[in-house]
Amino acid sequence: MAAKIRNALAAAWLCSALAPGYVSSQVQARCDRACLEGLVSEHLTALAAHDPQRLPTTSGVKYVENAQHIPLGAGVWPIAGSLGKYRHVFSDPESGQVAAITTITENNIPAIYLVRLKAEPNGQISEIEAQLTRDDDGAILYEKMANPDPVWLAAVPEPQRISRARLVAQVDKYYSGMQGNDPRGDYSFFDRECDRLEDAVQTTNQHTGDTYGHSNDTSFASLSCEAQFQTGFLGFVTRIRDRRYVVVDEERQAVFAIASLDHNGTVRTLPSVNGTSSPIPAYFDVPRTLLGMEAFRLRGDKLYRIEMTLAELPYGMRSAFDSKNSNSAASQFPRPGNSTSLTTPSRPCNRTCLNGLPLRVLRAMLARNASSLPLARNIRYSENGQFLGLDDGLWLTLSNVSIPDVDEYAANFADDSSRTAGYWGLVKELTTPGVLSLRVQVDKDGKITEIEAINVRAEAPKGRGNTITLMRPPLPVEWEGGELGRLGGLFQGNGTALKGSKRNATALAKVAAAYFDGLERHSSKRVPFAAGCVRRDNGALQGNVSCAGQMDGRGQFPNGLSNSTTAVRDRRVLVADRDKGVVLAVVMVDFPATTKGGRLLSETEIVPSTYMVPQLIKIDHGGAISRVEAMIKWMPFGYTSAWGELGLEGKGC
Ligand SMILES: *[C@@H]1O[C@H](CO)[C@@H](O)[C@H](O)[C@H]1NC(C)=O
Ligand SMILES: *[C@@H]1O[C@H](CO)[C@@H](O)[C@H](O)[C@H]1NC(C)=O
Ligand SMILES: *[C@@H]1O[C@H](CO)[C@@H](O)[C@H](O)[C@H]1NC(C)=O
Ligand SMILES: *[C@@H]1O[C@H](CO)[C@@H](O)[C@H](O)[C@H]1NC(C)=O
Ligand SMILES: *[C@@H]1O[C@H](CO)[C@@H](O)[C@H](O)[C@H]1NC(C)=O
Ligand SMILES: *[C@@H]1O[C@H](CO)[C@@H](O)[C@H](O)[C@H]1NC(C)=O
Ligand SMILES: *[C@@H]1O[C@H](CO)[C@@H](O)[C@H](O)[C@H]1NC(C)=O
Ligand SMILES: *[C@@H]1O[C@H](CO)[C@@H](O)[C@H](O)[C@H]1NC(C)=O
Ligand SMILES: *[C@@H]1O[C@H](CO)[C@@H](O)[C@H](O)[C@H]1NC(C)=O
Ligand SMILES: *[C@@H]1O[C@H](CO)[C@@H](O)[C@H](O)[C@H]1NC(C)=O
Ligand SMILES: *[C@@H]1O[C@H](CO)[C@@H](O)[C@H](O)[C@H]1NC(C)=O
Repeated sequence: MAAKIRNALAAAWLCSALAPGYVSSQVQARCDRACLEGLVSEHLTALAAHDPQRLPTTSGVKYVENAQHIPLGAGVWPIAGSLGKYRHVFSDPESGQVAAITTITENNIPAIYLVRLKAEPNGQISEIEAQLTRDDDGAILYEKMANPDPVWLAAVPEPQRISRARLVAQVDKYYSGMQGNDPRGDYSFFDRECDRLEDAVQTTNQHTGDTYGHSNDTSFASLSCEAQFQTGFLGFVTRIRDRRYVVVDEERQAVFAIASLDHNGTVRTLPSVNGTSSPIPAYFDVPRTLLGMEAFRLRGDKLYRIEMTLAELPYGMRSAFDSKNSNSAASQFPRPGNSTSLTTPSRPCNRTCLNGLPLRVLRAMLARNASSLPLARNIRYSENGQFLGLDDGLWLTLSNVSIPDVDEYAANFADDSSRTAGYWGLVKELTTPGVLSLRVQVDKDGKITEIEAINVRAEAPKGRGNTITLMRPPLPVEWEGGELGRLGGLFQGNGTALKGSKRNATALAKVAAAYFDGLERHSSKRVPFAAGCVRRDNGALQGNVSCAGQMDGRGQFPNGLSNSTTAVRDRRVLVADRDKGVVLAVVMVDFPATTKGGRLLSETEIVPSTYMVPQLIKIDHGGAISRVEAMIKWMPFGYTSAWGELGLEGKGC
């Protein structure tokens, strides 16, 4: 069974991945340094011209932007503006790969732009992997620098070079040292004069008294690379996985690497750098994954210069390309609690049992113990669209749940025809409030085969201690953890009042489909809305506008769900509860930021985005929609759910 799932994942990944990572490539690449640098120039010129057709690509070229596979020409392509002066290029003729750190503008806002290209021996580009770090301050600083520190660019005399394998091994020590950052570790792999840039800011040997990262610490950045690691300060990075050493520039003794930095939220304090330890900044209070593209220059066999930038991804986001050294969240999946969990007795689950099931799962999460659940051997767990183990994510961080029929903002749903159960309610992850939607699927014997969680967390957009800075743009309506009121009798209770209805799960799903069609078309035509239907997004009613009015573009639109959104895709009905007349569903809504239509967002917010929108759709006995409750979660543009990717199995790409 496990093998079968792994095969399914492998099949899905095959569509997107051929290992580009550090492998001693046997390919006799024709493209030398000048040729590779030329490809970077061609790429950037094509980008600024919004014209990918200009590029010499293979027919199956893969395009990835902030870890999402999207069509070449989508994402940043339509909105890229002028190219910056700063251009730091790393070339690896042996593997035919080249990478660059540079700046561009997006809708006129500066951004740091990193890109890796893979050239085939015939000179055609087969992979383009870009990272946009939307930190305009950083991009402006890079432009002030204009050029990389010259130590990066000089050819190192051959006798002073170390081998490819050793370059990679030394860099790998950096990641291993940062992961869980043990203050007693051996950090002698740093050169004494090592310095690091983060978004063009020097964050070592720097005596400005500036705070470091999201913390209030003003001492950390004054330390050397080695002394920083010796504090254990970076231990909030709990895992660095999918490390790919994509460009090994032997001549310049530099490595350009790509890795996923996981922060599982369990580290609660920052150790003392200067007297007192402090609480973990709010940003790292919940599980986060950051994509890091990072360059290293070695002197001898020590790390001498480091240049890095990050972009925010959903926690556990699988790597866009396979890697030799994966240690990935998904590669360890499935990972049930342990063997005892597989022997917990089960019996067929009827509607009563289904109604109680979400709370059983949530209680197991609160207890950090999946063993009390009747898990099927092939149990799959996903969080915000990524597969995780049952000892990760919410299984480490859930701290409080609202109880249906007891607390104000909680309800559960069931569909015995498909043996699914659902939950929607206010929860806490450690100290951060969230609105959690949950789907639990059982098999004929009552064993749980699938658990799907989506948690829209409160974000704090302003001031220090904020949780969204350069990592993701703010939404026009953020939910900052405020009151959501009563979810309302419509969604709560046992549905007695609705007994006897002829609605069934299929009919309900049809109504939901009509709703999503309307959302995609920006037209309420053929969408059965009841008079008086209202929709809330992130807890906010946008003026006194009906559901139909909102869909048609009257009144204010919240959250980018305006007429500038395009596809409403990856539509998943999680549970269709016929007794309550409620569909719990999730969709991905693309906002390509091409700024057609009303501009509800400020300039810095106009970046390509995908909104993951879990929602409750209440459908009355006549089949009309009377209420919609939606939460909006920001995702990188083109985000797809892992469940959708599983569906690719056997279908080709
Ligand atoms: C270290 O802490 C002390 C007292 O809190 C403070 O006066 C000093 O400026 C700090 N040093 C640095 C480098 O932040
Ligand atoms: C940093 O300082 C601000 C202002 O004093 C405070 O509100 C915030 O909680 C502090 N953050 C951390 C992580 O200690
Ligand atoms: C399974 O978990 C239980 C409870 O945590 C523990 O007592 C038991 O040793 C674990 N078994 C295995 C094989 O890990
Ligand atoms: C479901 O099964 C339980 C125990 O087997 C039983 O007590 C309950 O009445 C059943 N509920 C329904 C709705 O059939
Ligand atoms: C986890 O749950 C199982 C089954 O309910 C129980 O036997 C075990 O003791 C629990 N483990 C811990 C660490 O509480
Ligand atoms: C979470 O982080 C803690 C602290 O680093 C670590 O011990 C634990 O193994 C991590 N768990 C997962 C699933 O990453
Ligand atoms: C959840 O929060 C409420 C009130 O804030 C508290 O009374 C309750 O004990 C909490 N439950 C858990 C499981 O922590
Ligand atoms: C369903 O809810 C109604 C009203 O809240 C209550 O009177 C009734 O007892 C409930 N029925 C069941 C089976 O829980
Ligand atoms: C569901 O209801 C629709 C119409 O309300 C009906 O046509 C269909 O046959 C029903 N399906 C099932 C499985 O009962
Ligand atoms: C909202 O609109 C309805 C009719 O369109 C009206 O009856 C109601 O008073 C309005 N409510 C508010 C708060 O403006
Ligand atoms: C989108 O809506 C705005 C007003 O909200 C309107 O001015 C614009 O014409 C609409 N665009 C399209 C393509 O419908």
